[in-house]
Amino acid sequence: MSDPTSRSGMRKGLTSYGDEGFSLFLRKAFIKGAGYTDDALERPIVGIVNTGSAYNPCHGNAPQLIEAVKRGIMLAGGLPMDFPTISVHESFAQPTSMYLRNLMSIDTEEMIRAQPMDSVVLIGGCDKTVPAQLMGAASAGLPAIQLVTGAMLTGSHRGTRVGACTDCRRYWANFRADEIDEAEIAAVNNQLVPTVGTCSVMGTASTMACVTEALGMMIPGGASAPAVSADRIRVAERTGAQAVAMIAAGLVPSRILTPAAFENAFRVLLAIGGSTNALIHLTAMAGRLGIEVDLDELDRFGRETPVLVDLKPSGQHYMEDLHAAGGLVTVLRELRPLLHLEALTVTGRTLGEELEAAPAPFAQSVVRPFADPIFAEGGLAVLRGNLAPGGAIVKQSAASPRLMEHEGRAVVFDDLPDMVARIDAPDLDVTADDLLVLKQIGPIGAPGMPEAGLLPIPRKLARQGVKDMVRISDGRMSGTAAGTIVLHVTPESALGGPLALVQTGDRIRLSVSGRRIDLLVDDAELARRRAQLPPPPDRSQERGYRKLFLSTVTQADQGCDFDFLRASQMAHRVPKGKP
Ligand code: FES
Repeated sequence: MSDPTSRSGMRKGLTSYGDEGFSLFLRKAFIKGAGYTDDALERPIVGIVNTGSAYNPCHGNAPQLIEAVKRGIMLAGGLPMDFPTISVHESFAQPTSMYLRNLMSIDTEEMIRAQPMDSVVLIGGCDKTVPAQLMGAASAGLPAIQLVTGAMLTGSHRGTRVGACTDCRRYWANFRADEIDEAEIAAVNNQLVPTVGTCSVMGTASTMACVTEALGMMIPGGASAPAVSADRIRVAERTGAQAVAMIAAGLVPSRILTPAAFENAFRVLLAIGGSTNALIHLTAMAGRLGIEVDLDELDRFGRETPVLVDLKPSGQHYMEDLHAAGGLVTVLRELRPLLHLEALTVTGRTLGEELEAAPAPFAQSVVRPFADPIFAEGGLAVLRGNLAPGGAIVKQSAASPRLMEHEGRAVVFDDLPDMVARIDAPDLDVTADDLLVLKQIGPIGAPGMPEAGLLPIPRKLARQGVKDMVRISDGRMSGTAAGTIVLHVTPESALGGPLALVQTGDRIRLSVSGRRIDLLVDDAELARRRAQLPPPPDRSQERGYRKLFLSTVTQADQGCDFDFLRASQMAHRVPKGKP
């Protein structure tokens, strides 16, 4: 038998029996029960995180991907070992998928650490899964490479191309406004998700796929291939082979996930008109590596990084169109002067070397030239003001231009149940010029920071044809959503943030150009209201994961990670600027 103190393959992370030789002997005895030979067990081991689940149709192609990843691993001389972790789908997670993201990251980290493997392929896709996996892998410190399941194809409803989930929201708003009937909303329900895979617009899943490629944690071209395409299977095979190569190269996440890599990711996030959620996820991932995100500097980044990708919800196209247009490399090529080309990727080559090696560009209409963007500034703007001293976000590329400078009367909902109870009431005192405010949907308030920031237009206004209003909350919104929506107001109302003090009838001024969100109420009145706030709820009877969540989750400006999972020291601040 080989030296049990050698720490690779099956010898890694031996179970503690007080006798390492016996531990290895026992491990091999059990694994041989599955039919493995000694030759196989001497190979470098690549773990494959299997997040296939009947509850997660976004990962419905996981079996085919695992087969292809295994093929790649074995062609490169490794031994593939797939194992399950938690899988989280947006629509099958109560109260929210965000509530479970950190649990999935802990599961991923600990199972990578606990089981013998030399590198790991992370198969994720649906919104929270990729950040959870990258957060866990960054903390585990083993060579890791991300594979996404890929976007679903688009469907067709009465001759109109449709896809989840921008069109889900559009048709639902039409239904609420009585513009379409029960039969049509049922018909469109069959067409919005025509295949397995992740949402087909630039929602959080597509955004995380693109920023992960920009981070260098995915093989080039890995972000855009549709879930049900031969390209996706080839990406999976290449990912498996690369996972073997990363072992000898010692390509651990901390060598790839550097401040320069995060700056590249932020450039891409802004240029693709990406999901606001990605900002929270990138902040959480960076925090695992001792990198802090400076929201004000990010806003400066945004002013010099235009939106180039013409995808819904900011534009017109779908992810399969981005793939046909060459994929993310077409975007990276346009952003080249703003990128850190020296950043290392999972291939062992730099981003600049990969761009040099990419196929030649060709004429296409999905990714605009840098000089002719679809929106002159980046997709996200960071707001400050007395309503959000810790910052707030607006996705300006998906907002209504006429509402970006707006002052009006606040119509306040105290929490989600209050909003559900009153938003459609015929006697709700509301006009199209009012600003809708929703409290108690922050990380702790709801809990889990639900994607409820896109408050529905009150039915009586929707029936009058109102399509957008300024809406303000401490929650999130789906990356597939559009509108003039102020999100992530920090600190949240459940912690006594200024949002908690807003009352119906107050005036609020939004100035996206001035990057301000202000409550126009004098300080003495605010102090009086603060003194009357109810005490925080008694949480002493909470138990289990909910107790852990409520007692350790951080605010949006720290990525909503658990405080004990973040690096103990923040050694860097990003973004800093052009290379
Ligand atoms: Fe899974 Fe949209 S619900 S990616």
